[in-house]
Amino acid sequence: MADTKIYRASTTAPVNIAVIKYWGKRDPKLNLPTNSSLSVTLAQSDLRTHTTASCSSSYPSSDSLLLNGQDQDVSGARTQACFRELRSLRKQLEDQDSSLSKIADLPLKIVSENNFPTAAGLASSAAGFAALVRAIANLYELKQDETELSRIARQGSGSACRSLFGGYVGWNAGTQADGSDSMAYQVAPASHWPQMRALILVVSAAKKGVSSTTGMQTTVATSSLFPARANETVPRRMKEMEKAIQERDFETFGKVTMMDSNSFHATCLDTYPPIFYMNDVSRAAIKVVETINAAAGKTIAAYTFDAGPNAVIYYLEESEKEVVGLFKAAIGDKEGWTGTRGRAVEANIAALYKVQ
Ligand code: ADP
Ligand code: DP6
Ligand code: CO
Repeated sequence: MADTKIYRASTTAPVNIAVIKYWGKRDPKLNLPTNSSLSVTLAQSDLRTHTTASCSSSYPSSDSLLLNGQDQDVSGARTQACFRELRSLRKQLEDQDSSLSKIADLPLKIVSENNFPTAAGLASSAAGFAALVRAIANLYELKQDETELSRIARQGSGSACRSLFGGYVGWNAGTQADGSDSMAYQVAPASHWPQMRALILVVSAAKKGVSSTTGMQTTVATSSLFPARANETVPRRMKEMEKAIQERDFETFGKVTMMDSNSFHATCLDTYPPIFYMNDVSRAAIKVVETINAAAGKTIAAYTFDAGPNAVIYYLEESEKEVVGLFKAAIGDKEGWTGTRGRAVEANIAALYKVQ
């Protein structure tokens, strides 16, 4: 009798928010970046993707992906690359061990839920593809480690390679044309700097007008500021940032974070036609951070914005009162200040997540 068993595995993956931004591809097909990047994995937040991967001969013959209840197109080259690479690793295992079930060629069904806004500049593609790759790797009982899986997740979405690791995570741009040295690595575990906190201000949960993929390709093609950022500014800042993390030097960590966010958004503005990810509320959040730092006489809070208007504010636990206090005073007492997750109320800041 034909085996109609359903094989299944589930996992979760957290978002990561870059302090040195990935923006630009030198090879869009292999998803290879123009520059290295570095992020913090927000594992303590409850912003995460939950994904179940299953396969069965009883499924319809084509692979499928359901995201928050909606059928997604899986025919795109990026999702296909992840499926293909993971299947080929499973095939290798099956070839080596004849007692293993032959599941590599069975149709895959992926069911995924993001518990935070999708495509709004809060790294849904990072958590999403990290969870997708991890779930299928678990389903196929692959032995590959995070480093090797990060090379696959990178092909789904660049930032996803960093969400496979916890703590402070770098993504080495690499120099090889085949992408074999373009993967993530852990700079330091979260326990290295346990006082680090992040405040996430959800200014808008709406889908961004220009996707990261499209936006960065237009920037590379049209911005005259971009080469200096990719070739000079970012390589220098990667070194400064790694050192600041090793030395738990928040002033440098904060300054470099803010300057790199500004530099990234400057290249967006310098793109033709220009891309505006930040809005008036984003700029008001920058002003609040500047006020906090001026009052403290040093950098105790650092803003950063991905490809969207939502602010992420990094600070240390010891500055909780000054940082969270002034945001409270500036934007009102919202639900969620004390929990790890806030819900929409009204006004400009629709929701707030505090990562503890
Ligand atoms: P974001 O800022 O949220 O990362 P992007 O423009 O980079 O926005 O990517 C959004 C796209 O990522 C979505 O349109 C979808 O194609 C993909 N994505 C998001 N979440 C998931 C998920 N859980 N599983 C698979 N793909 C996902
Ligand atoms: C601004 O990883 O979403 O968040 O590789 O095309 O899927 P694709 O892009 P994506 O870009 C992220 C851009 C960023 C900066 C960062 O996370 O480093
Ligand atoms: Co993304």
